Amino acid sequence: MSSEQPILIASDHAGVGLKAKIARFIREELGQPVEDRGAFTDESVDYPDYGMLVAGAVSTGTAPCGVLICGTGIGMSIIANKFPGVRAALCHNEMTARMSRQHNDANILVIGERVVDEATALNIVRAWFATGFEGGRHQRRIDKIHDLETK
Ligand code: RB5
Repeated sequence: MSSEQPILIASDHAGVGLKAKIARFIREELGQPVEDRGAFTDESVDYPDYGMLVAGAVSTGTAPCGVLICGTGIGMSIIANKFPGVRAALCHNEMTARMSRQHNDANILVIGERVVDEATALNIVRAWFATGFEGGRHQRRIDKIHDLETK
């Protein structure tokens, strides 16, 4: 996945450290623009407040894709997947990152800072952005999700 529009990134307090590293990695190693929507300190905040800043924009098409980080990645996944058209994937390794793009056409990558180490997280990010959607039978499955959202 690559885009000239900025990739949106956000986290709660538990993901602030990893967020900065991932934002720098996307900018410097992948050469793509990034817009950081916070949080910017480790003061306790609520993950839905930040998750919705990214998921809302991906849902409306304002942003092509996004990255969300919290402690486990679970809260960010839950809030992001409430938004129509969002397919947020919580990835723990390169394999799940690749599959979430190939099979699920994931448009938001979610990572848990308390779950994976930094090197693994950056490998996940690299794999996710380097992998395309396979379409075919997987598109049919995504269409079924879309139908459910528009009923
Ligand atoms: C914050 O302590 C933690 O609950 C949050 O980052 C996340 O893991 C929730 O799913």
